[in-house]
Amino acid sequence: MTIKTMLKKINTLTDLQEITVEGWVISNRGNDKIRFITINDGSSVSNLQVVIKGDLNNQFNTDKILMGASLKVSGQLHLTPEAKQPFELNASNLVLINNVAEDFPIQKKETTLDFLREIPHLRHRTNLFRAVMIIRNSLLFEVHKYFQEHEFLNVAAPIITSNDGEGAGETLLVDDESKDYFFKQKAFLGVTGQLHAESYAAGFKKVYTFAPTFRAENSHTSRHLAEFWMIEPEVAFYRLNNIIDLADDLLKNAIRNTINNHPDEMAFLDNLQNNELLPTLNKFLDKKLTVIEYKDVVEKLKPFAEQFEEKDIHFGMDLASEHEKFLSDKIVNGPVAVINYPKDIKAFYMYQNEDNQTVAAFDLLVPGIGELIGGSQREERYDKLLQRMNELKIPQEPLKWYLDLRRFGYAPSSGFGIGFERLVMYVTGVSNIRDVIPFPRVAGSIKM
Ligand code: 4AD
Ligand code: MG
Repeated sequence: MTIKTMLKKINTLTDLQEITVEGWVISNRGNDKIRFITINDGSSVSNLQVVIKGDLNNQFNTDKILMGASLKVSGQLHLTPEAKQPFELNASNLVLINNVAEDFPIQKKETTLDFLREIPHLRHRTNLFRAVMIIRNSLLFEVHKYFQEHEFLNVAAPIITSNDGEGAGETLLVDDESKDYFFKQKAFLGVTGQLHAESYAAGFKKVYTFAPTFRAENSHTSRHLAEFWMIEPEVAFYRLNNIIDLADDLLKNAIRNTINNHPDEMAFLDNLQNNELLPTLNKFLDKKLTVIEYKDVVEKLKPFAEQFEEKDIHFGMDLASEHEKFLSDKIVNGPVAVINYPKDIKAFYMYQNEDNQTVAAFDLLVPGIGELIGGSQREERYDKLLQRMNELKIPQEPLKWYLDLRRFGYAPSSGFGIGFERLVMYVTGVSNIRDVIPFPRVAGSIKM
């Protein structure tokens, strides 16, 4: 039984029940007569207190056991319903599997996130990273579960592709036609699975990808990674409003179930955020999503222009992270979907609205982070799509297949991409994206 299961099934546990636990030492205090060793088995942020009495301490050399060591302990469970920890273990046997060397970098004293980022192979041996990675795992599971329960087909979009799916030129190169490389043609790491998902939506109707994507954006921010995971549903016959409803429902489901299934981790994280994390998330769960037109956002931001670094607030501007955060933090005070952006600041494949100025796109912005989701209804009209690609000087040849979809029974199609790490940031309250992925890759830095 793991510590998590014991906590969950507390009512089925009995006093003096024999148990065995394997895990790592969190702390070790006491003396020759009695020692308290807390251990964590990785199943939860909660630890188990092991009590070692009398001569057993000399027999097992318990005073030599250091924080971080791996142990196997067996003994009798002692239920302590009045205490903070509802049970402890009275050890009768203890095996020190592997003690730690003196220079183990994770120590009891406060370690900074900057320092921990230098040791990605060890930082999950702290409570914060334990909690974050457990929540990350839960969100991944809940997202897959949601799609599977709603009859979506998972599509394995390729990691290596010959397309720049966003047409933004931020691709990481794998191969080049000019050299004696493997594919002997231009190949990139995919920036999005969307275009491939569209081909499958035209046939399976409801599909999704959930996979790593790669961007050579030279942005040194707390919200950008060179390798990040994206969740991309694509649904044929859906239009913009349908896909926004899907995003809202998916997020609320995944967040609600994660909060319910991980009370200890969420309580731990909430505590780190002055107990503001859970109320904020619950407020989102209880409220209908706010939807605002881009043009109205511009009007709402104008009175606050002086507060921004970019003060020239006008129709046609791209919203910077400062504007996005201000809108969701201060004006809406919660998540908000901004719709119908000017076409010149959005990707080539988005559906062009009647007004000839805007596209049927949406960005979902959340407090503290800004953009969490980007999505749109796709341009289904062959001529309009081709014309837009030409205007933006996007090479036709690699995307001939994508244009062809529009000649072979393409129905209106819509989809979006959730930056998975930004979702983990939102749910855990962690403010730097490098701390919600096990092994972060950013411009100029790749460890391990
Ligand atoms: O807005 P983006 O660029 O949209 C697309 O890629 C579409 N093809 C999605 C679709 O319609 N299927 O990216 C989607 C999301 C962003 O909202 C952001 O959360 C995240 O991906 N994202 C990043 N996350 C971490 N690091 C980066 N460098 C990111 N770039 C985008
Ligand atoms: Mg975007």
